[in-house]
Amino acid sequence: MGRLLFTGGTVVTAEGSYRADVLVEDEKVVAVGADLPADGAEEVDARGRLVMPGFIDGHTHMDMPFGGTVTADDWASGTAAALAGGTTTIVDFALQDVEGTLGGAVEEWGRKAEGKALVDYGFHVAITNLTEETKAEIPSLKDRGVSSVKIFMAYKGTPLYTADEDLFEAMQIAREAGILVMVHAENGDVIARLQRQALERGDVAPRFHALTRPEEVEAEATNRAIQLAEVAGCPLLVVHVSCAAALEEIHRAHELGQTVYAETCPQYLALSYDDLCREGFEGAKYVCSPPLRDAWNQEPLWRGLQIGDLQIFGSDHCSFNYRGQKELGRDDFTKIPNGLPGVEERAMVLWTLGVREGKIDENTFVAVLATNQARIHGMYPRKGTLAPGADADIVLWDPDLEITATVENRHGNVDYTPYQGMVFRGGPAAVYVRGRLAYRDGEVLAEHGSGRYVERAFVPPSARVLA
Ligand code: URP
Ligand code: ZN
Ligand code: ZN
Ligand code: ZN
Repeated sequence: MGRLLFTGGTVVTAEGSYRADVLVEDEKVVAVGADLPADGAEEVDARGRLVMPGFIDGHTHMDMPFGGTVTADDWASGTAAALAGGTTTIVDFALQDVEGTLGGAVEEWGRKAEGKALVDYGFHVAITNLTEETKAEIPSLKDRGVSSVKIFMAYKGTPLYTADEDLFEAMQIAREAGILVMVHAENGDVIARLQRQALERGDVAPRFHALTRPEEVEAEATNRAIQLAEVAGCPLLVVHVSCAAALEEIHRAHELGQTVYAETCPQYLALSYDDLCREGFEGAKYVCSPPLRDAWNQEPLWRGLQIGDLQIFGSDHCSFNYRGQKELGRDDFTKIPNGLPGVEERAMVLWTLGVREGKIDENTFVAVLATNQARIHGMYPRKGTLAPGADADIVLWDPDLEITATVENRHGNVDYTPYQGMVFRGGPAAVYVRGRLAYRDGEVLAEHGSGRYVERAFVPPSARVLA
């Protein structure tokens, strides 16, 4: 594939920022240093750009059946959107078929991605039916390069919902096997009751989605998962943390020395409960779980990113069209498919609201988007850093790029964007996947099927080391 030399840029890693050239040979970074000789390598002018490791999104849902429908983005459109946001690797949730095995889910997701993926990818398995057979199968996921499972404490009434006894047993098995347990932490029993009561009262509008999933319900389940993980002796990853109350539980676990990783997402920093209250049925565009919260929760979440209580920033990209999909819940908010698109906007939200506003520095930006993602999701140091031997996944970030989000300029396959009209300041000018130019100036250049499966292995980093 030849050699590329990125010259004149500022390399930004989780550790620091410095002027350096980056030499790429075939698919790998081979040298990072000042004034590297070209020696026949093709030069890429990176002046005025920040040279960053390709971003990793450890939380996407492509081509996933959910809420009686299937996500709007498949592996072609979803990974195009990823590239346009500077993301070069995703870890997607392979959903176990209720009648099927965990291995079957991995195979099925492999078929969905093959021939379509534009970025590299791995799979978590989302467990939908934690039977004795399923539990026994967990350790074998490692042989398939899968290092994590997600277990749902929410969504009672669907097969996703998992009771504590099963969750706890899965934690014990995962600990022995060296598999990371991720939890969707909301109390499914309480939500089911609150939803029933709301519908009986005739409270059917989208905002009741949030009102029947109060912050305490997330905080309680977060604390419960943390305590169960402590008894089981296993590390835990709490995904999509939405509010201060849940974050406090995570902070407390850190004070006690427990290994608890936590993720928040762009929607919880850029959007709020007010969006769910929009006129007519517009609020349906903002239905995700956990729900959007009152805006005062955003400051504590920023603080969590600053001090390392939240080590990763994933999109939870789970896109549904407004027409024909979100509309399924016009007369009943419980029928609105849960999820928002965000794989394209993730880094731009974080730069615009975080780095530009002085809430986090550019090195924390890289840590939560790439380096910590690679470590927690078992891909470090092949992914997540710019160092000799790493895959040459590179983002040339333009801190002055200005993009106003509209449906028309999105690269995914969704008929709306929750970020409509938001002005992003700072974005990817060019993106390389394993040394190949995959995106430049708004245009996706990668070929379908060029993304490769990444085998992952979980080596638990200390939550404090990541902070
Ligand atoms: O609303 C959401 N988050 N949908 C995606 C599924 C999940 O729980 O992550
Ligand atoms: Zn979830
Ligand atoms: Zn803390
Ligand atoms: Zn999700």
